[in-house]
Amino acid sequence: MSVSIIVGAQWGDEGKGKIVDYLSEKADIVARYQGGANAGHTLVFNSKKYILHLIPSGILHKNIECVIGNGVVIDPIAFTEELNMLAENDIDISNRLFISENANIVLPIYKKLDLMREKELNTAIGTTGRGIGPAYTNKISRTGIRVHDIRNEQALRAKILAITKNDEEIDKIDAFIAHCMALLPFIKDTAYYMSDAINKNKNIILEGAQGALLDIDYGTYPFVTSSNTTSGGACTGAAIPPTKINKVLGITKAYCTRVGNGPFPTEQVNAIGEMLSERGFEIGSTTGRKRRCGWLDLVALKYSVMINGITEIVITKLDVLDAFDEIKVATQYKLKGALTNMFPVNECADALPEYTTLKGWQQNIAGLNDFNKLPSATRDYIKFIEDYVEVPISIVSTGPDRQDTIFM
Ligand code: GDP
Ligand code: IMO
Ligand code: MG
Repeated sequence: MSVSIIVGAQWGDEGKGKIVDYLSEKADIVARYQGGANAGHTLVFNSKKYILHLIPSGILHKNIECVIGNGVVIDPIAFTEELNMLAENDIDISNRLFISENANIVLPIYKKLDLMREKELNTAIGTTGRGIGPAYTNKISRTGIRVHDIRNEQALRAKILAITKNDEEIDKIDAFIAHCMALLPFIKDTAYYMSDAINKNKNIILEGAQGALLDIDYGTYPFVTSSNTTSGGACTGAAIPPTKINKVLGITKAYCTRVGNGPFPTEQVNAIGEMLSERGFEIGSTTGRKRRCGWLDLVALKYSVMINGITEIVITKLDVLDAFDEIKVATQYKLKGALTNMFPVNECADALPEYTTLKGWQQNIAGLNDFNKLPSATRDYIKFIEDYVEVPISIVSTGPDRQDTIFM
C-alpha cells in the first residue's frame, strides 16, 4: 500500500496532470484535494490531448477510481462540461467517480464577484476568474453551499437565492440547479471511503492543483490562490490522516513559469523568456493567457521541498531546454547587501537572484525515455538540481505524452 501526494513545487502548471496520469498506471485511487476549476491539467495519451479542470488526472485509466475531495470547490457548470468531454471521448466513468459531500460549490455569482474584486484592487492578482476566492471566503465564513445540500433541491434553491439575492435572473438559477443535480449520482461520504481504501491497502495518489508558491499561507501573498496547495492541504482536503502519507512528490519544470501577477524573481523579460515560452508552448490551459517564463529558481525549489516535506522530485519539460547553449539556475539571493540561501517569499521585490551557469546540451532529447541515452550535460543538469535540493529525482519528463517519461 502507498499513499503519495503530488504537489506543484513552483507557481503551477509544472506538469502535474501528466505525471499523475503516468503514475496512475500503478494506482487504485486518484483524489484531488484542493482548488477548483482554476486548475488546468493537461494529459496527452496516444497523441490525443485532454484538459481536466476538476476531475482527477487518473480518469483516463479505466480501472481507477477518482475522487473530488472535500477541499475542492466545485463549479457544477465546469463539472458537467468535463463530464461531456469525457463522454465524447468514450471514457466510461460509471461507478468510479466520486464527489465528497463536504465539498463546497462555486455559484455563478462567485465568478462575478471574483472579477469585480479584481477591478477594485489597486494591484489585481490576475485570478483565473473562476470564482475561487469568493468560494473559499464563503466556506470559511460558514455561509457556503455544500455538495450535500444538493440532495434537497428545495432547500438548495432557497440557499442559492439567499446568497445571490436579486443579482441573478430566475431562469439562470434554474439552469444552475440543473447543473447541480448532475452531481447527485457521484456524491459520497469520502471520509469513510478513504478510510476503507487505506484499510484495504489500496495505492492512492492525492493530486494537488496550483503550486507551493501559490499557497495561501506559504506563497507570495497576496498573489496566491485561496487554498493550501501544499502537502498539508492533501490531508485536510482528501480525508487522509497525516500518519498514512508515505511519499510527497514535488513536480518542477526544468525552468520556471508563472501566470497572473506577483513577484517572479528569475523571470526573463527578454529573448530567453520568449524562447522558453515558444519552445514550451507556455499558454495557460484554463485561461489561455501567456505564461511568464524564466530560469529555474533552486532557492525557491528548496523552500518548496522544505514546506511540503518533498521526498522525491520530478523534473518536467527538460526537452524545452534543448536549444540553449548555456542554462542558468538561481542558487542564492542577494538581499539588503547580503547573500542568503533562503527564499525571500515576502521580500522578493528587494531581492536579486544570483545565478550559477551550467552547460547546455544542444541536442534533441524530446521523447527520450532512457536515462542512459541523455547527453552527459543533461545528466549533469539533473545531478546539479539533485545535489542542490538534497532530494532524489525519481522521474524526468521529456515530452507531453505519457510515454515521454524516464523513470530513474
Ligand atoms: P499542470 O497544471 O501542472 O498539470 O500543467 P499544465 O497541463 O497546465 O501545463 C503543462 C504543459 O506542459 C502541458 O501542456 C503539458 O502537455 C506539457 N508538458 C508536460 N510535461 C512535458 C514535457 O516533459 N515536455 C514538454 N515539452 N511538454 C510537457
Ligand atoms: P494548475 O493546477 C497556474 C493563479 C492565477 C492567479 C492566482 C490566483 O493548472 O497548476 P485564482 O483564480 O486561483 O484565485 O488565481 O493563481 N493560478 C494558477 N496558475 N496554474 C494553476 O493551476 C493556477 N490556478 C490559479 O493565475 O495568479
Ligand atoms: Mg495547469
